[in-house]
Amino acid sequence: MSIDSTQSLFVSGLQHAYYTEQRLLDALEELEQSSSNEELQSGFAEHREETQIHIDRIEDVFEQLDANAEAKEDPVVEGMISAHEEFMDQDPSEQAIDRFNIAAGQKSEHYEIAVYGNLIPMADQIGMDDAADTLEQTLREEQDELETLSEMGEQFDYEELEAAG
Ligand SMILES: [Fe+2]
Ligand SMILES: [Fe+2]
Repeated sequence: MSIDSTQSLFVSGLQHAYYTEQRLLDALEELEQSSSNEELQSGFAEHREETQIHIDRIEDVFEQLDANAEAKEDPVVEGMISAHEEFMDQDPSEQAIDRFNIAAGQKSEHYEIAVYGNLIPMADQIGMDDAADTLEQTLREEQDELETLSEMGEQFDYEELEAAG
């Protein structure tokens, strides 16, 4: 199969998405454990459960393609995880970690929205309507999570952060 076909672009995108979701499953655990705000912790824990479902859905799509579920390393998610590790190495305050984690979560949701936003029309294009519907469900959950995190970012208490600094 040539890389120039829509199907091969779709499969390659799906392999990167599969990798990304698996890495985010670990990353969300780290975000939950490093956060101090309870609402933030439970938000990350809930989205981690959804992320497991995102992984299952991608496996369903691989099955519909009659292909083995294969993950291909995605440097974008690796970069986001490294950025978090580098930040944590600087021994930040609880408030600074919470603020950083909100932004880190938002960035990963924006990325996932871009990933699914591109996979869905490709699935439609190659006649995989069920796969498009499945991925659409995931896209909606990523959008909801982005909205939740964006609200938390807007309501963030900067006075406490300033007091800690
Ligand atoms: Fe996801
Ligand atoms: Fe997500």
